[in-house]
Amino acid sequence: MVYDLIVIGGGPAGYLGAERAARAGLKTLLVEKRFLGGVCLNEGCIPTKTMLYSAKIYDGAKHGEKYGVTAENLNLNHGMVIARKNKVVKMLVSGVRSQLKSCNVTVIESAGEIKGKAVEGYEVSASGETFVGKRLLIATGSEPLIPPIPGTKEGLEKGIVLTNREILGIQKVPESLVIIGGGVIGLEMASYFNSAGCKVTVIEMLDHIAGNTDKELSQILMKNYEKKGIVFNLNSKVVEIKDNTVFYEANGRKNSIEAEKILMSIGRKPVIQGLGLENIGVEIERGCVKTDETGKTNIPEVYAAGDVNGFSMLAHTAYREAEVCVNNMLCQKDMVRYDSIPSVIYTNPEVASVGETEESARQKGIDFEKSTVSMRFSGRYVAENEQGDGICKVLVDKKYGRIIGVHMIGSYSSEIIYGAALMVEAEMRVKDVKQLVFPHPTVSEIIREAIFKF
Ligand code: NAI
Repeated sequence: MVYDLIVIGGGPAGYLGAERAARAGLKTLLVEKRFLGGVCLNEGCIPTKTMLYSAKIYDGAKHGEKYGVTAENLNLNHGMVIARKNKVVKMLVSGVRSQLKSCNVTVIESAGEIKGKAVEGYEVSASGETFVGKRLLIATGSEPLIPPIPGTKEGLEKGIVLTNREILGIQKVPESLVIIGGGVIGLEMASYFNSAGCKVTVIEMLDHIAGNTDKELSQILMKNYEKKGIVFNLNSKVVEIKDNTVFYEANGRKNSIEAEKILMSIGRKPVIQGLGLENIGVEIERGCVKTDETGKTNIPEVYAAGDVNGFSMLAHTAYREAEVCVNNMLCQKDMVRYDSIPSVIYTNPEVASVGETEESARQKGIDFEKSTVSMRFSGRYVAENEQGDGICKVLVDKKYGRIIGVHMIGSYSSEIIYGAALMVEAEMRVKDVKQLVFPHPTVSEIIREAIFKF
């Protein structure tokens, strides 16, 4: 059977790409080896947000007396949280399935492998059959990076060491959890398990948590979490795991810590193995499928979108990349502008950023000025956050007065940041934003407060 497009991988890049292509009239086949919705829906974004929401309600009630709310016999029932998470995932995955069906995408739930080039297109085998695609979209995503730290493999086999995949399914909250890696996954999981009553320790190699996040925000987040009882060991590199003990080096000294469970969250790597990319000569660079900003690989009519290209490893980037690929397949020129992709850490408080940080702007030699305001300038924030210490920071280039970066920590940041992304994307200037009307009272007004300080 010949298709206009064969999509390999059914995560955000794959399912959205297939849907857009099919709606534009391309006869589309989607091949998925594990589950539709990919990591995002099944073992990433959605499950964690479901769990974090339960933790937020629980924490809110636990500390409700500041707001005049008291409750007795409060309990976070982890089993029920997991059951609800499974229900939400099932519902959303079935939504993706019916969406694909409604636009006539053929779905094969089996591993797909590129076999080679035929006269009419590229041959892909799946479920014992061979299909031909005039075009290919590689959207196979990423998987947890398992480092060559001695004892990791054995720990995984024994079920002591977990990745994001296993930790989202554990039926019982462990007494103690050591998280290796203070990045996005580590922090979101630290947040949930801390709320659920587990003793959480984060071991991070760098001198700060939250990776490339603005340093001030990362410090505020750490302070908030230390207050909640999470222990952070910074400048600490894990070197060995032996059963329940994690050995790490800090300041030239070897230390160790024991925990019931260990979460390995030191990053992710693209899934390219067993795909047959070599059979058609797709170029791989540092373990990622190499593409340009239009999603094209080095092979004509073969595109790649999502984590597999290693650019940004975020579901929302994947959506946009898939759309760009499909538009270019249809000869509508399009490209991804990576500079204005927002990022969020769904901790409590939430952290959200877009554009340049002070550090990245300095590295690029951009002459900028900044305005930092406390979230307490927002009436809504004060109303809802007793002793909240959130901030909003706006960076502007001195030459044109354009907004080049916005960084926020505090409630609703995840929902507000898209407005800031729009400002960065549209290269809005301070004087343009000054004319915008923000709804009152909302926390979003904090951007206006920061802007009026320029
Ligand atoms: P990450 O790259 O965000 O963080 C990994 C951390 O591990 C780094 O800070 C690194 O310094 C540290 N590390 C590495 N080796 C270490 C060692 N031996 N000892 C101690 N620390 C060590 O990776 P993470 O958290 O696994 O997330 C993977 C991907 O998933 C990211 O690309 C992220 O963007 C994505 N993701 C996004 C989410 C969101 O947008 N909210 C949520 C979850 C994941």
